Amino acid sequence: MVVMLNFVSLFEGEVVKKCNFYVGVASIIITSPVLLHPLQHIAVIGTGYVGLVTAAGLAHCGNQVTAVDTNEQKIDALRNGIMPIYEPGLDRLVKDTYEAKRLTFSTDVQSAIAENDILMIAVGTPMADNGAADLSYIAHVMDTIATSMNDFKIICIKSTVPVGTGSWARTFLHEKGIASDRFCMVSNPEFLREGSAVADFLHPDRIVLGIECERSFSSMHDMYAPLIDQGVPVVKTTLETSEMIKYASNAFLAVKLSFINEIANLCDALHADVKDVSYAMGLDKRICPYFLRPGPGFGGSCFPKDSSALLYTATLHGVDLKVVAASLATNEAQKEVAFKKLLAVVDGDIVGKTIAVWGLAFKANTDDIRYSPALRVIECLVHAGANVRVYDPAAMENTRALFPDLYYAHDMYNALDEADALVVMTEWSSFGNADLTIVIQRMRHPVIIDARAVFDPQQLVNHGIIFDMIGRSCSAVKN
Ligand code: UGA
Repeated sequence: MVVMLNFVSLFEGEVVKKCNFYVGVASIIITSPVLLHPLQHIAVIGTGYVGLVTAAGLAHCGNQVTAVDTNEQKIDALRNGIMPIYEPGLDRLVKDTYEAKRLTFSTDVQSAIAENDILMIAVGTPMADNGAADLSYIAHVMDTIATSMNDFKIICIKSTVPVGTGSWARTFLHEKGIASDRFCMVSNPEFLREGSAVADFLHPDRIVLGIECERSFSSMHDMYAPLIDQGVPVVKTTLETSEMIKYASNAFLAVKLSFINEIANLCDALHADVKDVSYAMGLDKRICPYFLRPGPGFGGSCFPKDSSALLYTATLHGVDLKVVAASLATNEAQKEVAFKKLLAVVDGDIVGKTIAVWGLAFKANTDDIRYSPALRVIECLVHAGANVRVYDPAAMENTRALFPDLYYAHDMYNALDEADALVVMTEWSSFGNADLTIVIQRMRHPVIIDARAVFDPQQLVNHGIIFDMIGRSCSAVKN
């Protein structure tokens, strides 16, 4: 197969070099990487979903990787093949690279820093109370690097950090007495989606490298060589621009979602079907079909956190990001749309009703419930006096810690027993494949609010189910 290697070099916003040339490769799926490039020794600091996927992915690319974390329990579990998160394909990737001895685990951060050439920082940057990114974990790692550095190091920030953090880290090391010629800072943002992070690592749309010295570019290029050799475009740019690319990408996707969610709400008011609207919009290449699926609002640790952090940075610099602010405000309102639809279907009479909720995770294929719209709906239901029965294939334990008093069903049908209505909040494929005859038998009343459009409206009609969907109420049966 012939694929195009597309190399784009950007400096100060301008494309200064662009060359396309052709290489022959056997397959876009990396099964056993051929090492034509020097092996890189890498320490990945932090084994959250970004750090762990990055560590295993880079080991899969043929590098020698040490994944470090100060949490001993987690590292012990990883050595025994137990994953700290639910992420499809990750256990296999970790197992294969660990057994091949290209991936090792350690709690000794200092030694990992001393023994490796590339230090990838992949610790959390959670949202602080004021909306800013909390950089305390990054600062702590930089402090450890400062005290453990021996030789020249490439210090690469993988975590999502505000524009200027790489430059701040450079100054930080200088202030600790570390000379400029002993390190280079790199920004290499991740674009992994939870639930498909392994596939996203192995088949990225682009690799962004914000660099400040050619030596680091060459090492980073070698580190990603098996991906680059298969045609993944590399964007070479400055630290600040690279950091901005990450925030701008997430904020743009968040805006796209809030836009389609607003259009979906308008479709409901006008009896139009958002499914066709979104499909037809997506056929326009300038719009593209992805991220046009309306729903109960976006969640997860990234879009809400990164949009807020971008707003915070913009405010500090006197720039008014009205569109980004609007997308967040729209999203907050969107999280209550499913509850409002339920209220409308039951004529506002929710006290003492039994409501089943299918889906707790912020999206399918993850156990992550951070900023999940399902949590808001559960809060509304509990506050309104409903009895709530919930089920999720992966996120039950995480939710139980927040809402210990709900009924946690042992399977999706058990959640429906004696339910007056079902609200579907996450698009797990098992929900869409549910047997509607069983659904009806188990429920007291056949009422479904399908906030993720997992069901085919015609099937619901055929089964005599009273239902509503976001942007598709034109197909709903009213009682
Ligand atoms: C997002 C980005 O997609 C990744 O590129 C980025 O690396 C990551 O954030 C990050 O910054 O770490 P993630 O939050 O894991 O990834 O998940 P997405 O698939 O982007 O979904 C985010 C939210 O949007 C979910 O609540 C999902 O249900 C919602 N969504 C997504 C929709 O409602 N409709 C869509 O069409 C797509």
